[in-house]
Amino acid sequence: MKKKLVVGLTYDLKTDYELEPGEPVDKYAEFDKEDTIAVIENALKEGGHQVIRIGNGKKLLDFLVGKKEKVDIIFNIAEGINTRSREAQVPAILDMLEIPYVGSDPLTQTLTLDKLMAKKIVAYHNLPTPKFVLVNEISDLENFKLSFPVIVKLRYEGTSKGLDKGAKTNNFSEMKKRVQWALGTYHQPVLVEEFIQGKEFTIGLIGNEEPEVLPVVQIAINGKLDLGEDFYIHSLVESTGVEYICPAKISARLDKKIQEIAKKCYQVLECRDFGRIDIRCDEKDNPYFLECNPLPSLALVDIWPIVAQQCGLTYNQMINKILSYALARYSSLRSGS
Ligand SMILES: Nc1ncnc2c1ncn2[C@@H]1O[C@H](COP(=O)(O)OP(=O)(O)OP(=O)(O)O)[C@@H](O)[C@H]1O
Ligand SMILES: [Mg+2]
Repeated sequence: MKKKLVVGLTYDLKTDYELEPGEPVDKYAEFDKEDTIAVIENALKEGGHQVIRIGNGKKLLDFLVGKKEKVDIIFNIAEGINTRSREAQVPAILDMLEIPYVGSDPLTQTLTLDKLMAKKIVAYHNLPTPKFVLVNEISDLENFKLSFPVIVKLRYEGTSKGLDKGAKTNNFSEMKKRVQWALGTYHQPVLVEEFIQGKEFTIGLIGNEEPEVLPVVQIAINGKLDLGEDFYIHSLVESTGVEYICPAKISARLDKKIQEIAKKCYQVLECRDFGRIDIRCDEKDNPYFLECNPLPSLALVDIWPIVAQQCGLTYNQMINKILSYALARYSSLRSGS
């Protein structure tokens, strides 16, 4: 018989934080909304489990010090705060206390939030990723050799933070101006990457050493499938301008190629239980790894309900499948034990 578990939920809510004067408006964009927590909670309950809402990393500490209730496993989607290791905060606490949890460990969380480090690992394994230059200070642009256009993005952010139309630049002086703005606004290093002009895809994966690659999702912007110069800017997040097309409208060959690259990236970055890989193709349909999200949004407006449907599952079943991949890693929690 399936074992009923007590599942703790850790997450960062947008409403837990307030912007200080002068901070970028997208500072807390990655954090979740209440309704996302509710749908995950509901899914886990439908899976037969008891759910305790814990909240962010600090609330987890209070919960653990209080020791009033015991959890069997934590379903973690907390993004953490402050540093490029922020997504590792909750997993690190749980590792220290030997509390089982769903999702990637601190190393993978940190490695992938830092786009530069993730690209280095991916490139080391001969997987394609756009050429880039890291800019810590403006003098790092001396001897700049990338081909234009280039995109100027932040080294460790998500949710298209810092990206508006001006992030794609066509010449050195435009690029330099944008880099100066990004360094001054976000106070973190900047990645300048060759701009890949073509179709864009995001691929959900679940599982561990041999993950299941879920059906490829194609990103359409304002009805366009071949994005060319368009890209996913911050103002498009949760807007009707972005559509997730699944199955992707591409040849079986390209689909297979994208799935293979996504799987290898997930594996070399050592993701656990669930994650999402973002890929963009050039005009000749050559795919390039953009980034890996081991804490992809599980909001109903994101890809998971669509992808689940393509797999013949409900969203709730998909969430419980993710949980079951985590349980399989912890022998003491396997169903039936
Ligand atoms: N080299 C590139 N060439 C073309 N477009 C790019 C490139 N890098 C990023 N983009 C565009 O910017 C968007 C955001 O970039 P990326 O996925 O790297 O960052 P993110 O903010 O972490 O994304 P997410 O919202 O998935 O967390 C991509 O979805 C893509 O549209
Ligand atoms: Mg992305």
